[in-house]
Amino acid sequence: MTPHSVPAPSPADLAPLLQLATDIALECGELLRTAGPPRAVEQKSSTVDLVTELDRRVERHIVERLRATRPDDGLLGEEGATRDGTSGVRWLIDPIDGTTNFVYGYPGFAISIGAEVDGTPVLGVVHDVLLRETFSAIQGGGATLNAMPIRVNALADLSTALVGTGFSYGAQTREAQARALRHVLPAVRDIRRRGAASLDLCWVACGRLDAYFEGDIGGAWDIGAGSVVLREAGGLITSLDGGPPAPPALLLATNPALYETFRALLERAHAD
Ligand code: IPD
Ligand code: CA
Ligand code: CA
Repeated sequence: MTPHSVPAPSPADLAPLLQLATDIALECGELLRTAGPPRAVEQKSSTVDLVTELDRRVERHIVERLRATRPDDGLLGEEGATRDGTSGVRWLIDPIDGTTNFVYGYPGFAISIGAEVDGTPVLGVVHDVLLRETFSAIQGGGATLNAMPIRVNALADLSTALVGTGFSYGAQTREAQARALRHVLPAVRDIRRRGAASLDLCWVACGRLDAYFEGDIGGAWDIGAGSVVLREAGGLITSLDGGPPAPPALLLATNPALYETFRALLERAHAD
């Protein structure tokens, strides 16, 4: 520790924050399960990027609940909530990750609430609304799925890896993503595109996927919570150059045994 650095928060410091985030995520899950079909569907960054009145309502609920208990914290939400705090804690909120799935009633959407302390992600809750699965983690405390410990797979052979990915809302970027897929698909067991980045990370964390990669992800809210779950389950998440993940730059997530070969494959795929 340097003389001016602040000690990292312990799991005991973070436990009340995790409880708060979990309570809020479960409330929002109930709200979405009982709200009926989504109304007022609008387009956002492109014709294929959707937002509904419920995305905004859920974000408002999360922000109100956080501010009532933690008025000094900062926050950043996908649907526009933003606030500088003074406590060193900043919440990263994706009120509905997987909005396209939500609009279609296609299972695979989640409430994602993460927190960073002095810029380091330290806590995450991802609640899969229809499966009623809650992934959570605090730095140094391990990761759980519905309170049971989870761990990434140990697979080291890329040719038998089940790999998740996602696609941009921009047509031009999708063309480049399709070109890269031509290199990845023949080199792995198969590809999955589930439609919610937070769940992709949690599914690597619990072994339902071996690896995940995606470029042009919307923002820090997409990965704030899932990245903590993944790391606490023993996984790695980085940008393609090995540095910290930094949306919209391409990021990859795997277990440590697959990491280097997967990164090399993605480098070749994206050099094309
Ligand atoms: C999107 C989903 C999708 C991913 C996109 C994200 P949204 O979030 O996570 O799987 O491919 O990059 O923007 O718009 O549903 O909150
Ligand atoms: Ca999202
Ligand atoms: Ca969203």
